[in-house]
Amino acid sequence: MTLLEVQELKRGFGSKTFNTRIEVLKGVNLSIKRGELVALMGPSGCGKSTLLNIIGGLLRADSGKIELDLLNSKYVYGKENPSGVVEVRRNGIGWIFQDFHLLEQLTAQDNVALALEIKGMKEEEADEKAIEALIKVGLEDRIDFPAGQLSGGQQQRVAVARAITGSRPLLLADEPTGNLDVKSGEDVITLFKELCRDPLNPISILMVTHDPMLATKADRMLLMKDGITAASNIKDAWGVTE
Ligand SMILES: Nc1ncnc2c1ncn2[C@@H]1O[C@H](COP(=O)(O)OP(=O)(O)OP(=O)(O)O)[C@@H](O)[C@H]1O
Ligand SMILES: [Mg+2]
Repeated sequence: MTLLEVQELKRGFGSKTFNTRIEVLKGVNLSIKRGELVALMGPSGCGKSTLLNIIGGLLRADSGKIELDLLNSKYVYGKENPSGVVEVRRNGIGWIFQDFHLLEQLTAQDNVALALEIKGMKEEEADEKAIEALIKVGLEDRIDFPAGQLSGGQQQRVAVARAITGSRPLLLADEPTGNLDVKSGEDVITLFKELCRDPLNPISILMVTHDPMLATKADRMLLMKDGITAASNIKDAWGVTE
């Protein structure tokens, strides 16, 4: 069942008048099913982060349409300003970043709980949910550690726990393994797969990666080239030169 459908998405930057205009996305089409882990690859500067930012409701498109089907509600957006897409960010889409974005002084639990309390959840319930999520990502023995004292791989797991507590069906991950060693990177992708396969509450993940070996672990790969995305196989992925 389709969760996300992107149709003919276009976005450029700069000004035509000053001859600084570049068309980055030139009509991107893609769809993501429930429970799918999709890798997005492509040369530096081709527009991967731009695409994620538009899907995540942080940047508007020049034209095109995005449909996010949350079963009980369906969001259609694309050209709106970020201020008009609050519900998508609140209920639909979570983020994982390359540099984790954790508060280093706070414990793993408080990092996760804080995100829930900001959304209005009571402290006690937020604490419970935070512990549940940290157990799910395999950090039950690090719950009370300050985030700054965890390894990179563990910090990324805290960020994943934070992202999944919001019960958002789609996670966008922009180079989530970019700051991790090979083993920790593989562990994060294995965790992603488990979360997508969760029989009770499967999520979908769209992740940008420059690493073809990690991309092959996804259910599907998309290659971005010349402003559009195309289905890719591993041979194409290896052909990407930067
Ligand atoms: N806010 C902006 N203003 C002007 N140009 C921008 C802006 N954001 C992105 N661009 C341009 O759009 C193009 C695509 O950038 P983007 O960050 O999406 O690439 P990317 O595929 O994520 O690259 P990387 O793999 O290096 O992260 C680049 O040429 C970039 O300079
Ligand atoms: Mg990028």
